[in-house]
Amino acid sequence: MSEKHATLTIEGNNYRLPIITGTAGDKAIDIRELRSTTGYITLDSGYMNTGSCSSDITFLDGEKGILNYRGYEIDVLAENCSFVEVSYLLLMGELPTQTQLNDFRALLSRFALIHEDMIHFFDHFPPNASPMAILSTMVNTLHNFYPEMTGDSGEDLPEIAARLLSKIRTIAAFSYKKSIGHPLVYPRYDLSYCGNFLNMMFDKPVKPYVVHPQVVATLNKLLILHADHEQNCSTSTVRLVGSAGVNLYTSISAGISALWGPLHGGANQAVIEMLEAIHQDNNDFEKYIKKAKDPNNPFRLSGFGHRVYKTFDPRATIIKRACKQTLKALNVDDPLLEIAMQLEEITRSDEYFVGRNLYPNVDFYSGIIYRAMGIPTDMFTVMFAMGRLPGWISHWMEMMGDTKDRRIGRPRQIYRGHKKRDFVPLHERG
Ligand code: ACO
Repeated sequence: MSEKHATLTIEGNNYRLPIITGTAGDKAIDIRELRSTTGYITLDSGYMNTGSCSSDITFLDGEKGILNYRGYEIDVLAENCSFVEVSYLLLMGELPTQTQLNDFRALLSRFALIHEDMIHFFDHFPPNASPMAILSTMVNTLHNFYPEMTGDSGEDLPEIAARLLSKIRTIAAFSYKKSIGHPLVYPRYDLSYCGNFLNMMFDKPVKPYVVHPQVVATLNKLLILHADHEQNCSTSTVRLVGSAGVNLYTSISAGISALWGPLHGGANQAVIEMLEAIHQDNNDFEKYIKKAKDPNNPFRLSGFGHRVYKTFDPRATIIKRACKQTLKALNVDDPLLEIAMQLEEITRSDEYFVGRNLYPNVDFYSGIIYRAMGIPTDMFTVMFAMGRLPGWISHWMEMMGDTKDRRIGRPRQIYRGHKKRDFVPLHERG
């Protein structure tokens, strides 16, 4: 941290505000004493310029398209690690040794079951219930079944994280099986994290599932690419809800709800729906581009644009490559891939998208891969939630451990309603 200051002048008075520089050179003006010294607050809707915390977990530079977890570049991790290794890195701060990884995997196997009583809950959701609503509800309910593993009781971090990572995978797969009316497939100790998930999703008593190594490799990559993204909407939600002192499950459940939104993780589902609509419209790209550019039409090209990236989202570049590889390996010929690539190309020569720095984001190509794997569209955002879980837990833990700066999240506002009104009794109101 440096000793530099910024000077703020308000009504002729000068105030010195400390400048804070992060390890990768990112700069902030520290306004923590602003209101107490000046009487002013800052107004920043959508938190476009507001840092809510300092963090050791993830660094991203949206201008340069850089994303690092704990100092490691995302493409190196995606190329060389499993999702379990990267989860360990995010949670513990270091890549695991082989022994640590084996121990962590053993915990994931040990905690893979959910309480049998929880299984009855699945029976009582309506037939077309969204898997995201089910996931959020079930994760919240975990607190009732495992009240001792709240994360703030001095329990072992690997154990808490492994329990949640393992159980969310089981809940996700069970919710799919219930939605199609098939018997549940229980986790197996001999399969990897991703292999187990795929087996629980697709194994049937009448047709055993054979885990395809390419599908496992791609799923690992996708989950790694989603594993953290610093203070995004859902992670900020986890931190904000957790800042009230609520348990880990409830905080994560709130994060799942935030992720559901089509402007956030729900975009992966919206992308496929949009590409299918273009396909059904005989590839009438012009129609959709025109709608997206019309300021009077709320329609947006799903999977384009990002609050932070003003260049290519590095995750999108990796996913696009993985998408082509996976479809080829599985021998899948999906017309939506060609439509997606054409749409991307059209936007690259359109001043509207170029001028606003609207590039494909992480959600643009991921849905095409999930389709090729056989994952239904309404499960796409659940896949994102499974991937983002280690990030959410790491941020929750970091916040809880930050005894110096930890306080309840409570923004202020500028009030713009009536100043003061005279009360009129009910019988006198016209
Ligand atoms: N299609 C068309 N126009 C867009 C798009 C888009 N996808 N995204 C932004 N714009 C336009 C806006 O209309 C606005 O234009 P204007 O300046 O003429 O008013 C300008 O670009 C800036 O957009 P903002 O909404 O101010 O950007 P913001 O940072 O608030 O929003 C967001 C970012 C929500 C991601 C936005 O780009 C969007 O809605 N994208 C589509 C949904 C999506 O893909 N979400 C996933 C994001 S990644 C993730 O969360 C995992």
